[in-house]
Parts: sequence; C-alpha cells; structure tokens
Amino acid sequence: MNVLIAFYSKADNAESMANALKNFFKLKNFKIKFLKLKPKKEVKVDEYSKLEKIDFEEDLVDVKSFDLIIVGTPVSNFSMHPVVEHFVRKLKNVENKKFGIFCSSVALAGKTVQKLSGILSTMGADVVSSVTVKSLFDLNEKKTEEIKKFASDLLEKIS
Ligand SMILES: Cc1cc2nc3c(=O)[nH]c(=O)nc-3n(C[C@H](O)[C@H](O)[C@H](O)COP(=O)(O)O)c2cc1C
Repeated sequence: MNVLIAFYSKADNAESMANALKNFFKLKNFKIKFLKLKPKKEVKVDEYSKLEKIDFEEDLVDVKSFDLIIVGTPVSNFSMHPVVEHFVRKLKNVENKKFGIFCSSVALAGKTVQKLSGILSTMGADVVSSVTVKSLFDLNEKKTEEIKKFASDLLEKIS
C-alpha cells in the first residue's frame, strides 16, 4: 500500500503528528511518501490570500499512485492553513481516493475539518476519517493514542 502524508507545519506540532502517523504506517510495511509542504516564498498567514499562486519546493499534484492520502494542517483563524488549502485545491486524480485529515489546534478548531473535507469531497474524494489534536503541550500518551486510533481507523477503511 502506498500512503501520502502531506502537511504544513510552522511550529512543528502538526509535524509531530505526521511523524507519529509515518511511524504507524511504517510498522505496517506501507510505502510512505512524507511531504512537508514548503512554499518557496513564506509570508505571514494573512498574506497568502494576496499571492497570485503558491509555488512549493516539491510540486506534487498527482495522487493517482496513492492508496491513501493523509492531509494535515495547523488550525489558523478557525480554518485550515491557506498553504494546505492551496495544496489540496490543486490536486489531480483525487476521485474516489481515500483521504484522512488531521489538524493541530491550540483550542478552537472551528470548522477546519468540515471545510477541508468539503473541498476534498467536492473534488470527488472519499474522506474516511479525521482527528483534531490539541497542541498546548507536547504529544503525550493520550494524544499519541488519539493519533493511533485515527491511523487504525484509516487502515480499516482501506483494507
Ligand atoms: C496566526 C495563527 C492563527 C491561529 N488560529 C488558531 C485558531 O483559530 N484556533 C486554534 O485552536 N488555534 C489557532 N492557532 C494555533 C495553532 O493552530 C496551533 O498552535 C498549532 O498547533 C500550530 O501547528 P504547527 O506547530 O504545526 O504550526 C493559530 C496560530 C497562529 C500562528
């Protein structure tokens, strides 16, 4: 099985979640493409909307070869980070692909998962599971369990 873990992370919280997911799927002998979204030009979060487009250091748009795509985002102003929105809107061949969504928030995630899920579903994707983990403290046992539960759920849905 081929898994793509694509995420944006500014202060490493979403990255810790992505790493926990990577370790989970590695243990299952899945082939993993680990993609930390890095815009060539980083601007303040509110300024991304003023950019005509966002170019990434690695330009992955076609997800045809993946059996599962996991997209991660920090919550930013009660929504997904604009870099992540830009990334998902440009994806190709998402029809009927299984997606999982994870987000990292400090307190109130708002409708982050619903919005991201809505965009992907409109593009024809099958969003099968999601998790939101609070980032106030480091990943402890409880949070690691939440991520494992999310990963197990995804595993079940693609098996
Ligand atoms: C500009 C900005 C806006 C944010 N807005 C929210 C928010 O609306 N709700 C929330 O729970 N956390 C919010 N946060 C906190 C981040 O979602 C949280 O710290 C997250 O863990 C960051 O992930 P990262 O370390 O991977 O960048 C915001 C952080 C920043 C910098």
